[in-house]
Amino acid sequence: MNTQLKHDDKTYWNSLYSSDHNLLPWNSHKVSPIIKKILKIVNISKFKVLDIGCGFGRHIDFFKNFNCEITCIDISDEVIKLLKNKNVRLICDDFLTHKFEEKYDIILDINTSFLFTNNEKDKIISKIYNLLNFEKFYINESGYKQQSYDHIVPPKINIQMIKKMMKNFDIISIEKNIITENKNFNPYYVIDTIAKKK
Ligand SMILES: C[S@@+](CC[C@H](N)C(=O)[O-])C[C@H]1O[C@@H](n2cnc3c(N)ncnc32)[C@H](O)[C@@H]1O
Repeated sequence: MNTQLKHDDKTYWNSLYSSDHNLLPWNSHKVSPIIKKILKIVNISKFKVLDIGCGFGRHIDFFKNFNCEITCIDISDEVIKLLKNKNVRLICDDFLTHKFEEKYDIILDINTSFLFTNNEKDKIISKIYNLLNFEKFYINESGYKQQSYDHIVPPKINIQMIKKMMKNFDIISIEKNIITENKNFNPYYVIDTIAKKK
């Protein structure tokens, strides 16, 4: 039966990370193409970066190369424990309910919030807005073909809907991309967005 994910479904994520990691399409060492694009927009040296739903932490090394201070949050302790030698700040909690004590220059939401209902997505985007420093950046990658994984089918999304959800931001870049790096899985169709807090 197809179903939609709730933001606090820790049991689901822990069960995935307790199984074979090769079955998880995002288990890649490749950096998402939208992340590299930020370099054409701003000098990210020493930026404070928050990675929401960091998974295997595939974006950590990229930002470390620019001396960024990185905080990774994921709801699954099964995946957070894999990152303990990475020398970054790790938070195992639900992004939506976690109380943050600082603000960030870049917030990554790479294939995370798009999984949730539109109502929850609105709450996540509003929280991201409040956690960003003025004129700093939100990077979002969202699968748009409602490709199911396991029995989960993400809600329908398109460029118009993303623009509406990010109405409080300046959208710097929004484009469709096809992720083909992970040869064990079908190509993955995404909308990549870089938005700036106004
Ligand atoms: C599809 S994976 C993407 C992982 C990573 N962003 C990447 O692109 O490689 C989604 C991740 O979000 C995490 N997650 C799900 N709900 C969350 C929540 N409410 N708060 C924080 N992390 C969450 C999951 O445990 C999982 O690691």
